[in-house]
Amino acid sequence: MQSIVLAVSLGLMASIAAAFAGVIASSQSGSPAQKPKSAETYRSRLLVGLLVLGGLVTLGSLRPWPHALAAGPVVHVKATGSQWSWDITPQKVPVGQPVVFSVATTDVTHGFGVYDPSGRILFQTQAMPGYVNQVSHTFDKPGTYKILCMEYCGLAHHNMVEDLIVEAR
Ligand code: CUA
Repeated sequence: MQSIVLAVSLGLMASIAAAFAGVIASSQSGSPAQKPKSAETYRSRLLVGLLVLGGLVTLGSLRPWPHALAAGPVVHVKATGSQWSWDITPQKVPVGQPVVFSVATTDVTHGFGVYDPSGRILFQTQAMPGYVNQVSHTFDKPGTYKILCMEYCGLAHHNMVEDLIVEAR
C-alpha cells in the first residue's frame, strides 16, 4: 500500500515539474537573441534551480521511508484501542527484531503513539474505525516503553496509557 502511495506521489510531483518545465520552455521561445538579460530570465533560472533542489531533497528524504514494513522474521503485535484503554497482545517483544503493530479500534478514532523509556516519541499511527493500520519498528534497547492515545477520544482519553516491555534477548 505505502509503495503505491509513494509511486503515485512521485508521479504527481513529476507531472507538476513537467508542467512547470513546459511553461518555462514556452516562455523562452520566440526571439531569444533580442531578449535582454532581465529579471524574468533570472526568475526562470531560480525556479529551475529550486525545482532541481526540491527534487533532490525529496528523493533523499524519501529513501529512509519511515513506515516501510520490514522484510524477514518479524514479531506481530495486535494493538486495539477502546474507550478508554489499549489491548496490546503480546505486551512483551524482543529487542533488535522488527515488530509489526496492527492497530485497530473497537469504537472511535484513537491515536497510537509509542514513547521510549525517557518519554521521547518514537512513532505513531492512528487507530481508525474499519481499518487496520500497520506500522513496524525495531527497538534497539530494552526497557518499559509507553503507548499513549494521541487523539482526544472522550472523557477518559488521558487514561489510555499502556506499557510495552522490550526484553533483552
Ligand atoms: Cu483514545 Cu484518546
